[in-house]
Amino acid sequence: MRVARTAGVLGLLLCAVLAGTGGRERTSTPEYRAEALLSRMTLAEKLTMMHGGAECGYIGCVDGNPRLGIPALHLQDGPAGVGNDTTGVTQLPAPVAAAAAWDPALLREYGRVIGAEQWGKGTNVALAPTVNIVRDPRWGRAFESLGEDPYLAGRSAAAEIGGIRAEGPMAQVKHFAVYNQETARNTPGSNARIDERTLREIYLPAFEASIAAGADSVMCGYNPVNGTYACENGDLLQRILRDELGFSGFVTSDWGGTHSTVRAATNGLDMEMPDSRYFGAPLTAAAKAGKVDVDEHVRRILTAMFRRGLFDREQTGDLSAVVTNDAHARVARRVAEQGSVLLKNDGALLPVGPGVRSVAVLGSGGGTSVVSQGGGSARVIPQDVVSPYRGIRERAGSGAEVTYQPGTVRADGALPPVEADVLGGGLRAEFFAGTTLSGPPVATRTDATLDAFWHAGNAGIGIKENWSARWTGTLTPPATGAYTFSLTSSDGGRLRIGGRTVVDNGWSETRRRTRTGTVTLTAGRPVPVEIEHAQFTGNAVVAFGWTRPGQRLHDDAVAAAARADLAVVVVGKDGTEGADLKDISLSADQDRLVRDVAAANRNTVVVVNTGSAVALPWVDSVRSVIQAWYPGQEYGHALAALLYGDVTFSGKLPVTFPRSLADVPAAAPQRWPGGEYSEGLQVGYRWYDARNVAPLFPFGHGLSYTTFRYADLAVGAPRPDGSVPVSYTITNTGARAGAEIAQVYVGQPAATGEPPNNLRGFDRVTLGPGESRRVTTTLDARSFQHWAGRWVTAGGAYRISVGSSSRDLRLTGQVSLPPNPVAGATGGR
Ligand code: BGC
Repeated sequence: MRVARTAGVLGLLLCAVLAGTGGRERTSTPEYRAEALLSRMTLAEKLTMMHGGAECGYIGCVDGNPRLGIPALHLQDGPAGVGNDTTGVTQLPAPVAAAAAWDPALLREYGRVIGAEQWGKGTNVALAPTVNIVRDPRWGRAFESLGEDPYLAGRSAAAEIGGIRAEGPMAQVKHFAVYNQETARNTPGSNARIDERTLREIYLPAFEASIAAGADSVMCGYNPVNGTYACENGDLLQRILRDELGFSGFVTSDWGGTHSTVRAATNGLDMEMPDSRYFGAPLTAAAKAGKVDVDEHVRRILTAMFRRGLFDREQTGDLSAVVTNDAHARVARRVAEQGSVLLKNDGALLPVGPGVRSVAVLGSGGGTSVVSQGGGSARVIPQDVVSPYRGIRERAGSGAEVTYQPGTVRADGALPPVEADVLGGGLRAEFFAGTTLSGPPVATRTDATLDAFWHAGNAGIGIKENWSARWTGTLTPPATGAYTFSLTSSDGGRLRIGGRTVVDNGWSETRRRTRTGTVTLTAGRPVPVEIEHAQFTGNAVVAFGWTRPGQRLHDDAVAAAARADLAVVVVGKDGTEGADLKDISLSADQDRLVRDVAAANRNTVVVVNTGSAVALPWVDSVRSVIQAWYPGQEYGHALAALLYGDVTFSGKLPVTFPRSLADVPAAAPQRWPGGEYSEGLQVGYRWYDARNVAPLFPFGHGLSYTTFRYADLAVGAPRPDGSVPVSYTITNTGARAGAEIAQVYVGQPAATGEPPNNLRGFDRVTLGPGESRRVTTTLDARSFQHWAGRWVTAGGAYRISVGSSSRDLRLTGQVSLPPNPVAGATGGR
């Protein structure tokens, strides 16, 4: 890598000398410089830029060119921080949490942390953000995206992209387009059958906003759209993206999402990732046969590189750099604070008052089995995750006694982790190359508890696949009686206690499973423990759990709740790339825990830790509900600050919470995951509004510890550019400072066939107690348009509603517009 970088700078000088322009070349345009460089490249050199090259440690690598001083490209995930098993990075809250802050300034900070850490790691193409619309809460990657509304997603993405780029790397926005499910992904079975209007109005605006914000690159998605794979879809990549949206950067295929050579290249794909199956030898042959114009693709890549300054700044970062720092952790915490949503707070149970002297934290995810993120390529390895229990305990200090009970098994069935103290501080780990536990160990270390997501990076063994591990130690039982032990293993695994095999998950197993076994042990009499694991593919999950004699997870948690002044139940559902959720229900044991805790303690707060909407069938029996999304490494700190009122809630839902799965727009299987987009424009709140279906919690909803009054709406006359100023006064009518997200919705004339309301503007307004502010939210020309072969303003009266959620509209006015196609085919925003 270093050779390539040095060569990059030397080559740059060489280029300048060869061109005879000396320093002047630096000041010429990226287009000019790209053209000049292109003219010196051989066909082979050009083709090298169009596909994955030699392994370079990043998830995507394009070989550098020392002869011409072209830097290598290092592409790296992802949307919640630097991923792909790197360490020394900050685990940010899930992007959906960031979207829930409705705060472009904060999104920019979020992007800057991503950009700075990527750049520090040597990445020059950051694979972020994910801007696909959350069409259905069952999408496994809903957490990784920016919600159900195109306008909110677009504003969030634009701000984030600005932040990423400000720190050095290119931003590659993904996945273009209409990628809304994991089921059958990258196969014809995920074909999205969608009409042009829905495509333009719902699924493309966030990409449009990203392009306007300077996205350097676009990743095409896995799924076919109207019968043609996105990465060879000329309608998408050429006609819309380039010709109409004016995108001049390069298009990279999702990993393995290239399905052809000439078809893909001639329909707009510039770069195959991660390898060269179609764009290696087959593309060379096609280029030689004159079937593909290679220059057009390489020009786009080079121009984007020049634009981003990759030829002018030496990339000094590398993968071993520690790039996280306190400032980044503070951004992570702020996003978790601002992105958490207070869904319900009856009788002002929160914030926690001084009278609360004892708090029971309950739920598997409340303690050491804390879930702070979703899975897949957006996964980020944190240094340390602050659990709710830890955060609340630290915040309460000596003011309250804080206890913890898991209450249920983990989502994968794992029992609570065996604590380090009964293991004499931990288990000794030995890692072996190969899956047979043989030969000398390649690494050894001590692990305090065995309850983690494992990967080659943090195991420090440098082997990505086909490794095995053995953990050994001694367990000193704290009591006499029957213990139940669980072993969770993603691949092969077995557990021996006292020389006896207690759990055998199979040795050549490649699916995650949890099994349990029971052993009777004597207090104080140590027994040997041995856990063996064989890992065949990528990352591993190994967890060693137990329950002690007489321990009953559910009953113990309910009893703890009954004894405490306040019960905080943490529930959740795991979401990951690669798999959709079967439903939107929490596990039955979690629902039962909430119900029984609520019956035992009327001061019950539920923290819902999910990547999207879930059903909350017990909602009427608890006083407070907080939606935490997956809040990243600062989870417990942010939650405690909110619970205690150090920070006032201001987050608002970026997705609708339905009463049940039957109410969601794409509930019918032919729609989702069947791929028929027949709900059309009625995605998210648009559906509930159009059908008059009451959601459980509407889009845009979120309470505060204070209250706000809206008054004096004035809708201004349309300006020459088609925009309309909307002014109103917001007053903080409570006793605390707080921030309100004021939302502006537009209802178009009925003849347009638009949904009842479309979000077209919002402003975050921070006010002290009693303070008022006049706010002007400007709606752009597009706010009043619909797609009818081009963007068209129908003419007539447009209803303008301003309020605190999509269902809490406090002020209504209108503006009349003449019928006219205001800004042409791609005008407006
Ligand atoms: C995902 C992309 C990701 C890529 C590289 C794919 O499976 O869909 O979002 O950037 O892998 O990890």
